[in-house]
Amino acid sequence: MILLVTDQDGVEHRLEALEGWRAMEVMRDWGMNIRAECGGACACATCHVFVDPEWMDKLIPASDEEEAMLDTVADTRKNSRLSCQILMRDELDGLKLELAPSSAK
Ligand code: FES
Repeated sequence: MILLVTDQDGVEHRLEALEGWRAMEVMRDWGMNIRAECGGACACATCHVFVDPEWMDKLIPASDEEEAMLDTVADTRKNSRLSCQILMRDELDGLKLELAPSSAK
C-alpha cells in the first residue's frame, strides 16, 4: 500500500507501506525528516503530521493521550495527528499526510 507524504519543503513522496506499521515508522524508515523521539510511545509529539482533510474520517479518532500530547505543540491545526498513532491498514491505502514543521530533525 502507498502512503503519500508532503515534507516540510513541500515535496511529495510516494512511500511503500506495510499493513500493521505505524505511519511514523514508514516515514522514518524511508528517511523523511521526522524526529519521532519517543519511538512511537505517544510521549513526544515529534511525529506530528497534518492529515489531508479527505482522509480524516477514515482514521480512528485520537485517544485522550494523543490529544493531550498534541496540546503541547504550537503548530497544531484541526487536522493534526500523531503519526505513530496511525496504523496502516487496507482502508488507508493512499493516505495523504503532511509533515509538520515541529516534527523536523
Ligand atoms: S513518536 Fe513520539 S509521540 Fe509519536
